[in-house]
Amino acid sequence: MAKLLVSLLALPFLTGALPADGLVSRGDRSHDADSFNVSQFVPSDSYAPQKHGIPFPLKDESIQPWVKLNQPSQIAAAAMIDAASTCTPLTPSNPSTWWYESVTHNGLSSFMSSNYRNEYSVFRNVVTDFGADNTGATDASAAIQKAINAGPSNGGPARGSGNYGTTGQPAVVYLPAGTYLMSSSIQLLVGTVLVGDPINPPTLKAAAGFPNDHVIYAKDPNFGGTINFYIGIKNIIIDSTSVDGAQSLALLDWTVSQATQLANVVFNMPNYSTGHVGVTSQYDSNSNIILNDLTFNGGAYGLKLSGQQWILKNIKTSGTTTGIKAGGFSVVCQACSFAYAATGIDATGVSGTITVIDSSGSNLGVFLQGTNSGGAGNSVVLENVSYSGTTVQLSGSTVLTGSVTDTWVYGDLYSSGSSSRGLARGTTVTTPRSSSLLSNGNYFITQKPPTFQEYSADQVLNIKSVAGLPVYGDGSTDDTANINTILAQYAGCKVIYFPAGTYIVTNTITIPAGSRIYGEGYGTAISAIGSNYYNPNSPGTMVKIGNAGDVGVAQIVDIIFTVADVLQGCKLVEVNIAGSNPGDVGLWNSHFRIGGAAGSKVETNCGGSPDQCKAAWGLIHLTSSSSAYIENMWGWTADHDLDGNNGQTISTGRGMLIEATKGTWLVGTAMEHHTLYQYNYNNAKNVVSTFQQSETPYWQGPGNDIAPIPWSSNLIASDPGFSSCASGDAKCGMAFFERISGSSDLFLYNGMVWVFFNNNGGCSGDCQSNAINILKSSPLYIYGQGVKSVTNMFLESGSPIAKQGDNQGGWGGNIAAYLHDS
Ligand SMILES: *[C@@H]1O[C@H](CO)[C@@H](O)[C@H](O)[C@H]1NC(C)=O
Ligand SMILES: *[C@@H]1O[C@H](CO)[C@@H](O)[C@H](O)[C@H]1NC(C)=O
Ligand SMILES: *[C@@H]1O[C@H](CO)[C@@H](O)[C@H](O)[C@H]1NC(C)=O
Repeated sequence: MAKLLVSLLALPFLTGALPADGLVSRGDRSHDADSFNVSQFVPSDSYAPQKHGIPFPLKDESIQPWVKLNQPSQIAAAAMIDAASTCTPLTPSNPSTWWYESVTHNGLSSFMSSNYRNEYSVFRNVVTDFGADNTGATDASAAIQKAINAGPSNGGPARGSGNYGTTGQPAVVYLPAGTYLMSSSIQLLVGTVLVGDPINPPTLKAAAGFPNDHVIYAKDPNFGGTINFYIGIKNIIIDSTSVDGAQSLALLDWTVSQATQLANVVFNMPNYSTGHVGVTSQYDSNSNIILNDLTFNGGAYGLKLSGQQWILKNIKTSGTTTGIKAGGFSVVCQACSFAYAATGIDATGVSGTITVIDSSGSNLGVFLQGTNSGGAGNSVVLENVSYSGTTVQLSGSTVLTGSVTDTWVYGDLYSSGSSSRGLARGTTVTTPRSSSLLSNGNYFITQKPPTFQEYSADQVLNIKSVAGLPVYGDGSTDDTANINTILAQYAGCKVIYFPAGTYIVTNTITIPAGSRIYGEGYGTAISAIGSNYYNPNSPGTMVKIGNAGDVGVAQIVDIIFTVADVLQGCKLVEVNIAGSNPGDVGLWNSHFRIGGAAGSKVETNCGGSPDQCKAAWGLIHLTSSSSAYIENMWGWTADHDLDGNNGQTISTGRGMLIEATKGTWLVGTAMEHHTLYQYNYNNAKNVVSTFQQSETPYWQGPGNDIAPIPWSSNLIASDPGFSSCASGDAKCGMAFFERISGSSDLFLYNGMVWVFFNNNGGCSGDCQSNAINILKSSPLYIYGQGVKSVTNMFLESGSPIAKQGDNQGGWGGNIAAYLHDS
């Protein structure tokens, strides 16, 4: 997350101003996306990191697995289960209702006070539990809001009342098929996921004369946009076709940040209606990763966005006057299509790079409109775009017509073999994509995250409901053995559903070939503890996805990976398996959180110096035998406490280590606040990454530990050693955004390196020396690289090549294309 203008917001519940029913006011709505002003998003030097999250007074303080770990009542070995009677290979049975609606829902908010924990329901069916009318005859909005707000059924405070932290109130608000008449808007809160049946997506239909300015407000109004995490909407249709097209109405406001999900949603508006907008993000600054698999029919705008950065994947618009009005420092459109619009993409609000790949337009006035600033900002990169007509217009002048089969670049360009900046003004360069990454000539993508809707409820196993193999997910019992037994037993035979809860593990969980795993909202976490994770020179793996050489299916959806203790020898996830086909192996909407939340000693014991809190060895390792698709992943070492007030000075060693060679797809990932690097491409090949956002640890820089401290004695060959930094040069000894070594055929679009602080406070001028170091690699294709407050954007073998000062634009420096040995 970024600390933009979050200033110390007056939190209403801290002053007791919150209404007793838990309903919240909607905050400042005075902004309009048209008034987007980049400079208002830049923090001032006096700005300090936010220290406070949401209080969690109704936490069960006695749950401290690092002090007392419970043992399951029974541990059974795999051999005790009769394989033949329980395991029938999964084949699609194409049911008419989604398994998730009828499966046993026994999820928990693991750390909620014992007075309430068993009375708090994570899953809420709006029809059967809250009486919403799904025939479309009478208003359903009040019932849906009740479902969102509901706290424990035995009289505990409502959600949103400031009693459950950020992570203590997970809620999946489920909409069965049908039509829901909306007579007024609904308001989501942190921890809320609104989910429809993907087989027959429910429609939220705004009533004629709708009284509010949005149908759904996603941003929890108690908090700034940049700390609105863990909110989701999927598998629904929002419809405003009964509302007068001239009435000012947006279907959804999405002023939220990382670890959120807006996916597989259709927005139906009257064709070319002048007043309707599909999605806005207008109520604050925000720091999003991805919006994916969305369809917009009609409206003045499909998406009208301002914020830091976005990847917009598989977006379709038709009958929308402007498909996407994009704002921010870095925006990608991947696999987008626009039809029957005056403008496909209005990128005049993008001050860094807009990149459009594998996209098409038909029947448009203009495909993309932008600004010609003459400098490095407002860069445009188009690759594999089909359109006949005016393709790019900058400040009113047409600069490109017709299709782009290769890569078209407008902005600063570093050509292969050249160490000086060139000015591309519509230059075409060649990007020979690896065939292993492609599907019909486009980079492979999934059309929506897996829902496993092709399987019926009896093909799904609730991991907490297997006789003889108790699994608790209660944040205090060692679930290692029985989870491993169940996964081994049912791989290839059942979809494994992990109800909300924190599953404590003391040794490696192995996810075998054949696994399909589904978590619940943002409430399902796997959390490591114990001596297998103590040795930083021989780290233990918490979750191992396949073994080297395995080929098969391993799909993981909606899981959080975390640590319950300060574990300098914990590698959280290692992927070894490859799929037979792209997408067979992948992680979707699955995120990392190191510290910053209830249920971990890292939250309460890391207020000191970084060397006292080496909380994890690293987050995720894609090994040389792996081939994985990763979409929507936030790898976060906490910079503040989401559930209270504890200081969080945490040193996680590494972010993402990529050594994969067989085809890797990174579609919307972010790595933040890891000590040595955010991303490390080490002997990697055939990788496409269409968006990678990062931040450096807030504590790094002059006045604090100089990297590789506190990991100096635990480095491995692929780690940056920082040996070229002069002794004591604290701006040099800061985490690399990217190290690229011994790698080839990397296709990296839109990288972001945001640096706000030194030693937790403001920094004057540049805060950090170096972003990316390239060592012995070829060829590399890097497009849309942005930095904020970093002196050197690219180094080769430790020598600075491209500097922020030579490429001023975006939030600091911006380079449209950097081609290395291509
Ligand atoms: C943009 O915001 C900055 C900071 O709030 C302000 O000083 C400036 O006047 C604004 N510019 C415009 C064009 O509104
Ligand atoms: C919008 O136009 C399309 C194409 O003509 C048509 O199919 C659709 O029904 C129209 N939508 C509305 C809401 O009128
Ligand atoms: C991308 O290029 C391939 C190969 O030429 C082509 O088949 C595909 O249709 C293109 N995609 C788009 C969106 O134009």
